Amino acid sequence: MTVPIGGQVARIDGAALVDMLGRWSTPDGPLYRLLSARIARLADTGELPAGLRLPPERELAAALNVSRNTVALAYQLLRDDGMAESRQGSGTRIGPHRTTPAAVHRANGLFSGLLAGSAVAGDLTMAAVACAPQVAAALEAPASVLTESERSRVLTSTPGYFPAGVPELRAAIAAMLTSRHGIPTTAEQVIVTTGAQQALDLLIRCELLPGQAAVTEDPTFPGALDALHRAGARLVGVPPGDVERLADAVRAHAPGLVYLIPTHQNPVGTVLPTAARHKLAELAARHPDVTFADDMAMAEVPLTDAPSPPPLAALSPHQPNIATIGSLSKTYWGGLRTGWVRAPEGIIARLAAAKAAADLGATAYQQAVVAALISQRHDEILKWRAEWTQLRYTALASALRSRLPGWIWTPPAGGLTIWARLPGVRDTSAFAQTALRHGVAVIPGRLASVAGNANCCVRLAFTAPPDVLTAAAGALAEAAGGTAAR
Ligand SMILES: Cc1ncc(COP(=O)(O)O)c(C=O)c1O
Repeated sequence: MTVPIGGQVARIDGAALVDMLGRWSTPDGPLYRLLSARIARLADTGELPAGLRLPPERELAAALNVSRNTVALAYQLLRDDGMAESRQGSGTRIGPHRTTPAAVHRANGLFSGLLAGSAVAGDLTMAAVACAPQVAAALEAPASVLTESERSRVLTSTPGYFPAGVPELRAAIAAMLTSRHGIPTTAEQVIVTTGAQQALDLLIRCELLPGQAAVTEDPTFPGALDALHRAGARLVGVPPGDVERLADAVRAHAPGLVYLIPTHQNPVGTVLPTAARHKLAELAARHPDVTFADDMAMAEVPLTDAPSPPPLAALSPHQPNIATIGSLSKTYWGGLRTGWVRAPEGIIARLAAAKAAADLGATAYQQAVVAALISQRHDEILKWRAEWTQLRYTALASALRSRLPGWIWTPPAGGLTIWARLPGVRDTSAFAQTALRHGVAVIPGRLASVAGNANCCVRLAFTAPPDVLTAAAGALAEAAGGTAAR
């Protein structure tokens, strides 16, 4: 489906190109100019290397849900600007231009809005929350949560480099995991990372060889797929919740890593029951060479009052191949970029070495502030966040039910996303393109899918203000009823 990174690329198909185009089209066209500009930009960055054959006009037009003429004009513009060339019988190719092999990279479409800095009126792609007021207050006035001696301990008595994290924060995370989640943890078993995304990336770097298999749920968090693809992992997907299939995949593929989101699975919002978690812990014990990562980034964003079953590490605290990923991004604020891994000390030491090579550690002073927040205001922040989330979920859920009653989705138990099936829509990538032209960005299923085959579904994040979510559902209904744009 997607063209291999850095490989010898001869041609790219329409669907793979659409994944890379990201938010190329906005309601204020002209579409052919926007399309040509976006393709030229991808050529500039090396993502579309010189000589690459672009999809035939008809194929790309279908994938984008635009007219063939739009694509023909865009290709013509690329030729006029010297960015592409066409030869009889061999289609349109990216023209010669300077790139280096190392520049060839592909970002998952999930991140394209962030990377391009583009904005749409209704952004339902990023499950990113507003900063909790308690967090904003502490960042503005650290003295409100830290004593003078605590502040000076970090500021004046240390060099400020902590690849494994500031000791106070490692200790606060360890205490929280022990008391709230039933995972007995020492500070030495915790590394502080730049969000859960880096936690995941470090684990992949340290636990997986290029070409080795990694097993994930399918669908899963697109950021995980991006990190795994970049590391050259061979991906094997199993349906969320199917522990038997997972066990078969582990036996058959001998993966280096199994990556799971058992609590409030992103994107489907389910919770793996306790009995299935016990089976997972047994599976981990039977396969000591495989690292099992339990991603709890969404775990503290519930949408019901039901208590969550214990994390894997709580069932098997001394199992050497279980790693727990966590984050404050979904509860406190993503801008803190505070995540962690809890694992045996040997794994933590390896991850700290990899983190040192990447950035020598995250910002020290902020970590001290965050440590104080965890110790003093955690419950209060979670309560505030639960109300914030419920309000937004209710707004999107009721707008979908009234404006798009044919869409099929199971109310999530938690998390920040709805995973909706669109009956009669064969390819939600093309639908997402139409939605973009109605001012709404959604994640088409294939971007969350290992095999690129969840094309029937879209992921809708409900983190925008309630009125924006209501308007977005209306725009999606119009997009669903609309025809191809010209
Ligand atoms: C399951 C999961 N893991 C990791 C992340 C990345 O989180 P962070 O912002 O802490 O890097 C996300 C963000 O959406 C997520 O949903």
